[in-house]
Amino acid sequence: MKKQKAVVAAALWLATGIAGAAETAAPVCLIAGWENPPSVCAAHTKSIAATCFICHGPNGKSSAAIPGLAGQDKAYLIAAMKEYREGKRESTVMKKYALGYDDSEYESLAEFFAAIK
Ligand code: HEC
Repeated sequence: MKKQKAVVAAALWLATGIAGAAETAAPVCLIAGWENPPSVCAAHTKSIAATCFICHGPNGKSSAAIPGLAGQDKAYLIAAMKEYREGKRESTVMKKYALGYDDSEYESLAEFFAAIK
């Protein structure tokens, strides 16, 4: 388990070079149990966001029945994720996804999607 996490962290370090351009003043994130610099946090957020694209469309721009996330209000996105996690919002699949991430990941994902025009 520890080894796996170290590999993930190493992969994120490598991905940083590619994703570095989108670096923001994101807070330090805890990955693999230690604090990582903003560039690693940004890469981490991007890799999670890519899994959202599968249903919510590329860059969160949906063309189907599933609501888009791009350009949505940051606070709205965070609140929605918390409500899904707590079962306060009706969902078919989102409760499961919401359970997979923590509050700081909700925050960075919301910031990521809110910033997309
Ligand atoms: C398997 C498809 C699927 C994936 C993957 C997925 N979603 Fe969803 N999402 C949905 C569906 C369907 C809904 C409508 C609520 C429901 O039925 O669960 C939704 C609704 C939402 C909403 C509410 C939007 C609104 O306008 O009220 C948010 C926010 C959201 N998803 C965020 C995310 C994020 C962030 C991720 C990635 C971590 C993600 N979703 C991944 C299918 C998905």
